[in-house]
Amino acid sequence: MINQILNADCFSVLPEIPEGSIDSIITDPPYKKSLQDIYADWNDGLDWNRIAIEFDRVLKPSGQLALFCDWTTGQMMTTALRDRFKFRFIWIWQKSTAQPINKKMPLSEVELIAVYSKKKSRLKDLTFNWKDIAEHGEPYRRTFDRQNNTRKPIKPYISESNGIKYPRQILNFPSKCNMVKSERLPDFPCQKPLGLCGYIVKALSNPGDLVCDPFSGSGTTAIACHRLNRNFICIERDPKYYAESVKRLKNELAQGNLFAKNETSPTGLNDLERINTNVPIMTENCLNPV
Ligand SMILES: C[S@@+](CC[C@H](N)C(=O)[O-])C[C@H]1O[C@@H](n2cnc3c(N)ncnc32)[C@H](O)[C@@H]1O
Repeated sequence: MINQILNADCFSVLPEIPEGSIDSIITDPPYKKSLQDIYADWNDGLDWNRIAIEFDRVLKPSGQLALFCDWTTGQMMTTALRDRFKFRFIWIWQKSTAQPINKKMPLSEVELIAVYSKKKSRLKDLTFNWKDIAEHGEPYRRTFDRQNNTRKPIKPYISESNGIKYPRQILNFPSKCNMVKSERLPDFPCQKPLGLCGYIVKALSNPGDLVCDPFSGSGTTAIACHRLNRNFICIERDPKYYAESVKRLKNELAQGNLFAKNETSPTGLNDLERINTNVPIMTENCLNPV
């Protein structure tokens, strides 16, 4: 099943995966957003207590779990996972387009990615490749004179940087309607940006690692893993989305890794370059929910 997208219910596949064999689980389970009708049947049978047991069983002690969620689902998941996983941190995906939900709240413009480690994991064993996701700025060396109330001189404070900035929590990636045309799948309602999935894969796994996405939808995690030389096991229950994701993966394999470096968005920045570049937020309604 390695490097395949499987058309199955994840509850039947996860028990087949050997214990402690997965380096990282990066997934986007169904969660309620504005268009609840679309998601209604996706939530059917989603037993988070079972998910917690299976995730805990398949994940290596050093492995981490990254879950796309909104605030409500995030709280529910954290409660369901709490006996086996500890919450570590949250990334905030700031979208390029904000959606109105109703007139009693602000526009909805962020989604969350909650990251957990196994309960007994040790911090030093966890993979977090911060240099691979760091922003690169100008190197600098600044000298600050320090106030001194005594006669004894004190050395100035020197701040130095090689230009590598520690990664931030707020990640700017395009909403579905602003994704590059070649990446956007018209019939899939909640496709995540490839650049964002790539960012998470890079941060939480190493080349050659095995990443599992049990709710793989249009196969974004599989494509990101392929481009970044990670192995994957992806599972999608819906035959239509499964077929679309397999087609997408086949196209990707046919093209090799060539266009990963060349493809640019309408703003001229590729997805990974858009991180924290303050892409302006457009307030128009987006017909394709992400
Ligand atoms: C939010 S979407 C994932 C989108 C994905 N991140 C992408 O970029 O395309 C969630 C997916 O989980 C699938 N799903 C729901 N329950 C499932 C289950 N029990 N087993 C496998 N897939 C399931 C749904 O069909 C849906 O395609």
